Amino acid sequence: MVKVAVLGHGTVGSGVVELLLKNKKSIESRAGQEIEVKYILDLRDFPDSPYQDKFIKDFNIILQDPEISIVAEVMGGLSPAFDYVRSLLESGKSVVTSNKELVAAKGAQLLKTANQHNVNFFFEASVGGGIPIIRPMHQCLAANEISEVAGILNGTTNFILTKMIEEQMPFDQALQLAQQLGYAERDPSADVEGHDACRKICILASLAFGKHVYPHTVHTEGISRLSLDDVAYADSFDGVIKLIGRARRLPGGKIVAAVYPAILSKHSQLANINDVFNGILIRGDATGDVVFYGRGAGKLPTASAVVADIIDITKANCTSKSLSWEDSSGDNVEDYKLSPSRFYLKLQGDPAEARKQIARCFGDAEYLARPGQPADELAFVTEEMTEHELDRRLEELQGVQLKSMIRVLDY
Ligand code: NDP
Ligand code: HSE
Repeated sequence: MVKVAVLGHGTVGSGVVELLLKNKKSIESRAGQEIEVKYILDLRDFPDSPYQDKFIKDFNIILQDPEISIVAEVMGGLSPAFDYVRSLLESGKSVVTSNKELVAAKGAQLLKTANQHNVNFFFEASVGGGIPIIRPMHQCLAANEISEVAGILNGTTNFILTKMIEEQMPFDQALQLAQQLGYAERDPSADVEGHDACRKICILASLAFGKHVYPHTVHTEGISRLSLDDVAYADSFDGVIKLIGRARRLPGGKIVAAVYPAILSKHSQLANINDVFNGILIRGDATGDVVFYGRGAGKLPTASAVVADIIDITKANCTSKSLSWEDSSGDNVEDYKLSPSRFYLKLQGDPAEARKQIARCFGDAEYLARPGQPADELAFVTEEMTEHELDRRLEELQGVQLKSMIRVLDY
């Protein structure tokens, strides 16, 4: 029998304990032995919980118990999660986690520690909730040179955008609903401002390209500045707005990575991914594009990925040393503004003068229209150019005010 401890009894942690009990029989047959939760660590008391006898508040009990061989860290945050995970690995216990903040900030170091101590550090749940993505990338796509990873990586913002677009639900109400459903981060600004998607693209890029990509090196924008006017203009362009995380390898080996809202054609695969669902596209030189789709957040989908890691460790009973990547000093990420794309721009100003200015700076722009468009508002899509070129042309515009800029991507 394998005895495990679960750190944190919130949305994901309670799902892990529930799933291990609910599917006990099939899990046991797949793992090759029984898996029992011996401890649940949390700060709070849970007087009505059926797992009363398992709750503890002292982490050292887990650390010092030789019976515990696998620990699920599902508390979130960097502190004390990092110290806990490092000391568990150093004491010869494998760790599985859903904590993308931890993996994005400390992944290279923790993978190295795990390898040095012949234990595993697995994090399938850290990207895409219930979608299998880390293991398929690491194992099933191992024969490919991956050139690009991109996708909808945050369930909360995709849920909010879907509610805003399809039901005209106000932003705050949609966010509140996402929080009630257990999708949002403890600090939901991590979702809304793009930091959660940034952490996930960092993990995927580190795995795909073999060197740690740190969040501070990745340009990140969220959805808080989007308006329903932008949504309407995108619709008139046969497009939808999605929060996209993307990372591409350049010929010299460096990568370009960013997170931002983007307009996608309604016919693209990613455009039709709604609600809490995520979609992740991996471009391999042998496979071409492979797209992974499923619930990107929520109690049981995420618990499914955490428990799968526990089963894998139990079943293999060995260390997966191949799951690792090199550390980096952060110089592996190139300036994101070198990436070319088309741009949607919304400007305000005298319409005749604005059209002259747009023609002078952008040539043949593709104008867009929306119901209720004010006379002094112009929206258009540029030809393809780098963001440096866009900045140069925007500087030349005179007498008009830039109200919105959204990249138009071709996935
Ligand atoms: P919750 O806030 O619901 O749960 C975290 C739990 O951990 C809480 O019960 C909290 O207690 C407890 N906790 C926090 N710090 C400590 C500590 N020092 N010692 C003991 N217990 C502690 O978060 P989630 O379950 O939603 O998320 C957990 C992790 O999983 C996060 O990293 C998140 O990003 C990630 N994740 C979440 C997903 C989701 O859909 N929710 C999906 C994928 C990943 P208290 O409330 O008393 O502070
Ligand atoms: N807050 C995250 C999201 C949880 O909404 O995608 C899943 O990682």
